[in-house]
Amino acid sequence: MKAAVVYYTRFGHNTVIARTIAEKLGAEQFRIETPGDPIFPVMGFCSWFNVRMKVKSMKTDFSNYDLVVLCLPIWAWKPAPPGRTFLNEAKLPRKLALSFSTGGGPIQRAEEKTRELLQGRDIEIVAVGEINTDKADEEYLKTEAKAFAERLASG
Ligand SMILES: Cc1cc2nc3c(=O)[nH]c(=O)nc-3n(C[C@H](O)[C@H](O)[C@H](O)COP(=O)(O)O)c2cc1C
Repeated sequence: MKAAVVYYTRFGHNTVIARTIAEKLGAEQFRIETPGDPIFPVMGFCSWFNVRMKVKSMKTDFSNYDLVVLCLPIWAWKPAPPGRTFLNEAKLPRKLALSFSTGGGPIQRAEEKTRELLQGRDIEIVAVGEINTDKADEEYLKTEAKAFAERLASG
């Protein structure tokens, strides 16, 4: 299985999560980056009001992969907007897995929002993972990310 792990992080947790999943799957890693570091109110506002956040130029054609694993933080109950920009612009394979990191809140709304963005495209969400990063140390993040990667590897 040729997999790519694509992630966005603002505070570093998804760097650990994405790296762990990529190592476990033998996948390449790609980082979504914004031109600057957005501040908290801007992050919350853009997420809540569905404002597009600009991302730096990156690889967008993933059509020759079997699976893309997208690792994103949740902001205001939805996937962080830089991840949404990626979802809108990327050419994805048929299989997409989502790993959401949270501060302990629910992920249902984020999953629904992602499905809405993918509407009309031939993409199946094969797995949705959830990692609470509130008070999480690196070991905890690695353990949770490894467990998610094992779920993906076992199909
Ligand atoms: C603007 C903002 C909004 C957030 N909204 C939520 C939320 O609705 N639900 C939740 O569980 N966590 C929320 N969080 C917490 C983040 O999801 C959490 O800190 C995330 O795992 C950080 O990932 P990172 O370190 O890779 O940037 C929010 C954080 C920020 C900065």
